[in-house]
Amino acid sequence: MDKIVVLTGAGISAESGLQTFRGSGGLWEGYDVYDVATPDAWARNRNLVLDFYNWRRDEARKAQPNAAHEALPKLEEKYQVSIITQNVDDLHERAGSTDILHLHGELLKARSTLDPSLVYDLGGKNIQPGDKCELGSQLRPHIVWFGEDVPKIYDAMEVAVEADILIVIGTSLNVYPAASLVPAARNARKIYVVDPDMPAMVQGDDGVTCIEKTAVEGVPPLVNQLLKNTS
Ligand code: APR
Repeated sequence: MDKIVVLTGAGISAESGLQTFRGSGGLWEGYDVYDVATPDAWARNRNLVLDFYNWRRDEARKAQPNAAHEALPKLEEKYQVSIITQNVDDLHERAGSTDILHLHGELLKARSTLDPSLVYDLGGKNIQPGDKCELGSQLRPHIVWFGEDVPKIYDAMEVAVEADILIVIGTSLNVYPAASLVPAARNARKIYVVDPDMPAMVQGDDGVTCIEKTAVEGVPPLVNQLLKNTS
């Protein structure tokens, strides 16, 4: 059974109403990364950071998976499918994908500031000042901030090198080490990129099939074509 690896970014959740980061209307237009998404921001102004992620978490809970999220699990009928996502929402889970690696963490989880291995499901709650882990330290968002290690990149690399087919959806490929997963999938016989505005990394690369459409327009037909290819 061929293995498909899908690398997703904020663009796949855009049509579910969640903001991307870069480009017009992006999150980083309204917020300075260094005020809300770095360890220094957490040290300087913990409550602003908690408010930022509580707001993003509320937005993510209100969002619904779109046709792109919902098409991907169908590939599991005929392929071994691994999703590597930079997104911290749970839309891939809610759409039914079963093998998902969150490279940059998960909004719906919290973790100890003393022991990063202590991770807690938030259920329907948010994180407030004074919410403590079992060791008595303040809980923080279970998110990889800028300047922090990306512990799951090693697992993600092992997945990427096994790809027979790589599908990249809705990421500017601006952020490393996530972007290095594309060259890591060098053994893939096909690489598809679905994005209305092709990432610079793949522009002019004739080894890449560029689908210059939104995720909702471009992913379902691609999934149908890949399923047909194996029938
Ligand atoms: N369908 C598909 N792609 C879209 C859509 C859409 N409807 N709308 C926008 N895009 C594309 C944009 O063209 C862009 O290439 O999605 C990409 C979004 O890029 P970014 O905003 O940079 O998001 P992403 O690549 O996921 O950012 C990576 O940066 O800030 C950090 O940790 C954060 O995980 C994030 C990482």
